[in-house]
Amino acid sequence: MLSKSMTQLLNKQINLEFYSSNLYLQMRSWCDANSLVGCARFLQQHADEEIQHMHRLFNYVNEAGSMALIGAIDEPKSDFKNIQEVFKITYKHECLITKEINKLVKAASEEADFSTFNFLQWYVAEQHEEEHLFNSIIDIIKMIGIEGKGLYFIDKEIGAIADKRAIE
Ligand code: FEO
Repeated sequence: MLSKSMTQLLNKQINLEFYSSNLYLQMRSWCDANSLVGCARFLQQHADEEIQHMHRLFNYVNEAGSMALIGAIDEPKSDFKNIQEVFKITYKHECLITKEINKLVKAASEEADFSTFNFLQWYVAEQHEEEHLFNSIIDIIKMIGIEGKGLYFIDKEIGAIADKRAIE
């Protein structure tokens, strides 16, 4: 059985995962509007992954005898300077999510709620991967550069990352 405060914290994280999905979906739309089909594919895939993260939490809260709640979800940013800004925001956002997951882990540990503590380990590992993934994309963009044909090659590279992840 989850405590009231743990239920509130997990519900807040459900909301954040929804927000992450909407943010990446909105970015996908911006990429489509700017003819960046590979980046759009990658961001759509990531938006879908965030929904899976949300569902995992949603199911856990319900299974643990509490009630998952869907609250109001903030409107995501929709206007970006360029593709570099898009991915800088994704990286910053993932770092924020990591901090929130860490707060949850700390709270579970302090409450001696070892079931939730154990459940959250999946998210700890996932955030390590997500930060690494988005940081490596920022590096790719920096290396290729967004000038001239750079944008074409960046889009190809990021599309290839999406395709590789789809078959893993
Ligand atoms: Fe659900 Fe990208 O973290």
